[in-house]
Amino acid sequence: MPDLATKPLHDKVALVTGGARRLGRASALALAQAGADVAITFRNSAREAQETVIDLSGFGVRAFALHCDVTDEASVRAMMRDAGRELGRIDILVNNAANYESVEFEKLTVHQWDAMFASNTRGPFLVTREALKWMRRKRAKGPMETKIINMGSLGGIKPWATHAHYCSSKAALHMLTKIMAKALAPQIAVNVIAPGMIDLGEKSAAAFMRRMAKQTPMGRNGRADEIAQAVLFFATAPQFITGQILVVDGGLGL
Ligand SMILES: NC(=O)c1ccc[n+]([C@@H]2O[C@H](COP(=O)([O-])OP(=O)(O)OC[C@H]3O[C@@H](n4cnc5c(N)ncnc54)[C@H](OP(=O)(O)O)[C@@H]3O)[C@@H](O)[C@H]2O)c1
Repeated sequence: MPDLATKPLHDKVALVTGGARRLGRASALALAQAGADVAITFRNSAREAQETVIDLSGFGVRAFALHCDVTDEASVRAMMRDAGRELGRIDILVNNAANYESVEFEKLTVHQWDAMFASNTRGPFLVTREALKWMRRKRAKGPMETKIINMGSLGGIKPWATHAHYCSSKAALHMLTKIMAKALAPQIAVNVIAPGMIDLGEKSAAAFMRRMAKQTPMGRNGRADEIAQAVLFFATAPQFITGQILVVDGGLGL
């Protein structure tokens, strides 16, 4: 874990998709605390995005929020144009925005399948493709080393019977991570975090969370700050670490 007091990401610029709430917000805050300027994107959570921007600014960095639907190519292009203009370049891209849904296998529709892949797999592809121009920008000083961090899932490794579309979309994102790691080397290191069960305090999920904690070797579910620390790890890691899946699940997948 890097020493945040030394601001290891001072002079770096980060973009976090779906950063208004939950794990995206926690990741954005960790990057800002480490000294990075941070842009977040939101789709529906405009109010939460503004609150997150205020909290990010509290770390003394530049912060702003942009609307983006990652399933819509024109929206991604427009967001990236604005992000690039505002930020000047992008050093760290966190592809966090995604959807999650439980559906019994025989009831899964084509629409549900396609929508899941559009946000969880095609979204990170589109955002990355459009970000490249800004990630390859020359820096005034320091090496041209940039990072992409994708948010995968334990569900991209383990088959969950009632999540065929979600698990398949995340497995595809894990593969896309490895492909991008080869295609974009040596300038860009690309890695993926695969969170297990993360407890975000939702009351409706309390009983399920208790059950999952019992099945987890660490005896509890994960916390948002533990995922944010994994993001920070990749953001500050040697460029030689690329194409890796980091499972953060307290041993649930073992
Ligand atoms: N929470 C967990 O336990 C867990 C476990 C494994 C993996 N993960 C992964 O970790 C990441 C963050 O998890 P989370 O639970 O915080 O995610 P989440 O709340 O399900 O989604 C994060 C954000 O994605 C945005 N989003 C969804 N569809 C979008 C679209 N078409 N265009 C743009 N933004 C869109 C939403 O933004 P708006 O609110 O602005 O609409 C949402 O706030 C996700 O990739 C998730 O799959 C989470």
